[in-house]
Amino acid sequence: MPDIYTAIKQDHDEHRELLDRIAETTGDSDARKEAWRTFYYEVKSHAAAEEETFYSKLISKTWGQDAARHSVHEHQQLDDLMEELNEMDMSHGSWLEKFKTLRHEYEHHIEEEENEVFTRAREVVADSEIEGYGARFLERKEEERKLVDDKREDSLED
Ligand SMILES: [Fe+2]
Ligand SMILES: [Fe+2]
Repeated sequence: MPDIYTAIKQDHDEHRELLDRIAETTGDSDARKEAWRTFYYEVKSHAAAEEETFYSKLISKTWGQDAARHSVHEHQQLDDLMEELNEMDMSHGSWLEKFKTLRHEYEHHIEEEENEVFTRAREVVADSEIEGYGARFLERKEEERKLVDDKREDSLED
């Protein structure tokens, strides 16, 4: 079982590939729909599991709070962008424009997680304290994947 840092990094690499794949698609093609759908569910469940495992540990440390709050805030902003894309017509050029914004923001987010945030976490969270979190993260992610649609409906009702 990978440790939490490796598990998150492996996901990010998969997300980078999906972003590349989406960027190569055109219009409202099946290829774009399929790649976008995969990316959407993948990132939603990844971010939720990250918050429930990795960030909840980091935020419990005085010197981890700023980094954790910053990342969770970015999750919210990324979420808003993804929902806007969900609502937009894929055949319009504006979809690709907005996707490029999302891609830029998302790549920045995961790069920051892998560098600044992981560095901070390694400083303030002992390895022994976060042992088993890789498995926990992957389990939560599976659970969250089943909740993506319900959670979206709830947030749209709010
Ligand atoms: Fe994240
Ligand atoms: Fe992440």
